[in-house]
Amino acid sequence: MHSYSTIQAIYSYVTKNREDGKRVGFVPTMGALHKGHLSLVQRAKKENDLVICSIFVNPTQFNEKSDLENYPSDFNRDKELLLSVDCDAVFFPSVNEMYPDEIKTEGTELGEIAVTMEGANRPGHFEGVVTIVRKLFKAVPADASYFGEKDYQQLAVIKHLVKSEQIPVKIVGCPIIREENGLAMSSRNERLSQMGKKKASLIYDQLKWIREHYFELSVSELIQAVEMSFDEHDEFNLEYLSIADENTLQPFEDRRTSNHPRAFIAVWLEGVRLIDNIGLQE
Ligand code: PAJ
Repeated sequence: MHSYSTIQAIYSYVTKNREDGKRVGFVPTMGALHKGHLSLVQRAKKENDLVICSIFVNPTQFNEKSDLENYPSDFNRDKELLLSVDCDAVFFPSVNEMYPDEIKTEGTELGEIAVTMEGANRPGHFEGVVTIVRKLFKAVPADASYFGEKDYQQLAVIKHLVKSEQIPVKIVGCPIIREENGLAMSSRNERLSQMGKKKASLIYDQLKWIREHYFELSVSELIQAVEMSFDEHDEFNLEYLSIADENTLQPFEDRRTSNHPRAFIAVWLEGVRLIDNIGLQE
């Protein structure tokens, strides 16, 4: 597996391979890789001739300094994992390589999809995501780029970015990979205790409960019931629970408003912020 840390080196690797007729897939990550990330690489391998994964903990998308400082990182372990799924190259730039002048976001019109949920609760987060993803797409001009539905709103924001700035890359959304107990895999899960990881299965259980009862109860009844379940478990702190349209990401009260409903949740457990979502017509 090739390893590059400068924009110039990865850019020439990608362009040379594309000139040779190879189709290139790209998986941007922040490292601390797990099976969720690897599933994106595997999907990209199936659909392309070669696959590049980037590992860069992007400072501008962390609205909490402590979250950035505590973000796990182990490059050697990540490299081994990427090798195990036949990744062709890893791009691992420094902060100075990606932000040579100043560590700041670059203005973007994000649209209504970025205003709700993560947008409302993590000020500046999507501005940071868009800033780095735009830079990464320039450094790695791939045919297709792969993102997880785990961060469903991020996927929508990136589709919006690519459309509004006419970036020539196909965006592919991939399903959420879960632990056996249903907990959505996340680098942040490593900060949970063993007990916390077990208890965190409540999140997916509640999402499934909403899906099961979606056509029986009203949206506000569904939300109230789940809020009560979390109230009964002191260790959880529910930040938001929204039932929203998959395309507009606007929450709604009346079920008839949306043909593509999805439930979205953000919960705190043991000082760790966990997010998850589920399609309600699956
Ligand atoms: P990161 O959190 O490392 O995630 C990288 C990619 O892996 C994202 O597309 C995310 O949705 C996907 N992913 C994470 N957990 C997953 C799971 N359990 N199942 C399926 N896919 C999963 O998202 C980011 O990094 C950053 O914001 C980034 C896009 C790299 C920009 O900095």
